[in-house]
Amino acid sequence: MRKLIDLHLHLDGSVPFTTIKELMTIHGLPTIDDQILRQKLSVGPDCRDLNEFLEKFAFPVHLMQTAADLQLIVFSLLKKIKKQGLVYVEIRFAPQLHTEQGLTQEEVVRAAISGLNQFFNWQKMHSSSQPELHANLLLCLMRLPHNYDQNLETITVAKHFLDRGVSGLDLAGAETPAFAISNYTSLFNLASQNSIPFTIHAGEAMGPESIYQALDLGARRIGHGIRCIEDTQLVAELIQNKITLECCATSNLNTKVFDQIDHYPVKKLLNQGVNVTLNSDDMTVSNIDLPHEYQLLEEKTGLTRADEKQLYLNAVTAAFCSNAEKKRLF
Ligand code: ADE
Ligand code: ZN
Repeated sequence: MRKLIDLHLHLDGSVPFTTIKELMTIHGLPTIDDQILRQKLSVGPDCRDLNEFLEKFAFPVHLMQTAADLQLIVFSLLKKIKKQGLVYVEIRFAPQLHTEQGLTQEEVVRAAISGLNQFFNWQKMHSSSQPELHANLLLCLMRLPHNYDQNLETITVAKHFLDRGVSGLDLAGAETPAFAISNYTSLFNLASQNSIPFTIHAGEAMGPESIYQALDLGARRIGHGIRCIEDTQLVAELIQNKITLECCATSNLNTKVFDQIDHYPVKKLLNQGVNVTLNSDDMTVSNIDLPHEYQLLEEKTGLTRADEKQLYLNAVTAAFCSNAEKKRLF
């Protein structure tokens, strides 16, 4: 079994199917046939773009509004991915999306950290042939209208829990000109002033210009960033500045950034010297897991075990974890 790292995994897009069913029972929702529930949670081949993809998040987010639910989801997700051979994961979510029933952003994050700690304790008590899994949280600012104050609060909460379960920030949501990265300059400047590392979703639905904007703000990692291939100068800059791309293959097929996996350029970028990593993005929405993504790129793009080793090393280098943790991972 491969030893894997996932630096780009959204909690709301990755709630295990069985946990969704458990939460539906807890909340007294009517049971739905498994096949229909899967259709409700996952995109089909008819998904046209990122906006349609993001519509799949409404249902799971609705089930993630209490501290108990959030803790359960983090715990069950970690148990699931440990079985897949993961040794380190950064789980991201936007605290501001989980305040519908009165939780504060701080309480949301506290609940997710309780899920991490519950898993670490469980892991200590259950010997396993799987390697040890460690995890941190990334808090997402959201591309939404009129939410400056909520994004600001997310930064305050990230600072409060930094190195105590939270390891950085992200900017997620609809990548459109209305939510251009330049709108978030003051927020990411604040993150930099507080030494909070961050990644930014860019070069997914929008082109190279969005990646340049993320780099201008000081992002050391780019969520997706795959559309850098449209600009050779940009690729050279990514190599020179050792910027890490968090690539997510099936997700990019779902949102029609690519039409065929055979054309997916992770191996090409890797062999050119870009610090690429391979990640899942949204396991439940895409109906995949990380071992499946590696398998797919092996079969369809000729990714080799040596390439995979390099992807792993790139992920360790780019992880927002402590140096002690990196030493364990190398
Ligand atoms: N939230 C969940 N998945 C996402 C993606 N691929 N891009 C932007 N925001 C997201
Ligand atoms: Zn993402």
